[in-house]
Amino acid sequence: MLDRIREIERQVMEELEGSLSPEELQDIKVKVMGKKGSLSALYKEMRGLREEAKREMGQLINETRQRFEQMLEGKEKELMALLLARRLREETLDVSLPGLPVRRGYQHPLTLVMDEIEEIFLVMGFSVAEGPEIETDYYNFQALNLPKDHPSRDMQDSFFVSEDIVLRSQTSPVQIRTMEKMCPALPVKIIAPGKTFRYDDDATHSPMFHQVEGLLVDEGVRMSDLKGVLLMFVRQMFGRKREIRLRPSFFPFTEPSAEVDVSCMICSGTGCRLCKGTGWIEILGSGMVHPRVLEMGGYDPAKVTGFAFGVGVERVAMLKYGIEDMRWLFDNDVRFLRQF
Ligand code: DAH
Repeated sequence: MLDRIREIERQVMEELEGSLSPEELQDIKVKVMGKKGSLSALYKEMRGLREEAKREMGQLINETRQRFEQMLEGKEKELMALLLARRLREETLDVSLPGLPVRRGYQHPLTLVMDEIEEIFLVMGFSVAEGPEIETDYYNFQALNLPKDHPSRDMQDSFFVSEDIVLRSQTSPVQIRTMEKMCPALPVKIIAPGKTFRYDDDATHSPMFHQVEGLLVDEGVRMSDLKGVLLMFVRQMFGRKREIRLRPSFFPFTEPSAEVDVSCMICSGTGCRLCKGTGWIEILGSGMVHPRVLEMGGYDPAKVTGFAFGVGVERVAMLKYGIEDMRWLFDNDVRFLRQF
């Protein structure tokens, strides 16, 4: 029996030596000290022994058992330390590596231009007014001196929702809404930025686009006031050296009406591809508010006068940043957007 114990001990030593994981240690433990383990089997064999020998053997087996347990425990600690050391070695973090760059967001060029236009006019004392994008025929046309069936409605291809409801084709209806709200207060001095819609889609037109409307109504407002305000705006937007030119034109809601050109920012007037050799680039429509429009807003055209204008925001952005196709503004291609 003593030999058997020695044999088991030798085997355990050997297996412990070769074991590499906590799982293997557990296997050895079960094989030797489990219910059916080799050491446990010895207890059964003691039955036939004399009382004296039984006690001796029992003690011996118990001692052996205790020794095994200590050995297993020691080996387990050793293994855990090894595993920890390996993990520490393999999972090191190089804190000196450069970080992953987080890309910044960019403001859309239209937002930039809108904000800049607003800023320029706020400094000149205008406030910002708003109106709905889905408008009635009355505000979008009739109150702006465009009765039903008037031929100049064809100047704009409008999206009608129904007979009397339209996606506003211009920001001009905000003129009427604001005058209605403010009358009889003076001055009415607002800009109205916002989305507008027309049935149009090519390199220089988009079915949805933006305008900024301007309106100043007061006693004694003259066309020279319009010219001064617009010159100020153009120089802030496109540079101190710019000049403007007012060309006679027609809009139903202004009389007289003028289209405003700015001296070409590329060639400064000598003629190039951008200005098609003319030295001038058209940037907005404007005029003195038509007496009938003042009336529609509740004001007395015998007492007050006013000027108005409408700027296309996409057009300003294209000129300012040299964008050749309006559709790029709406494609949302980050390679384009991140340039601003
Ligand atoms: N609403 C015009 C358009 O969309 C632009 C415009 C022209 C607005 C003259 C005005 C104006 O306020 O006075 O074409």
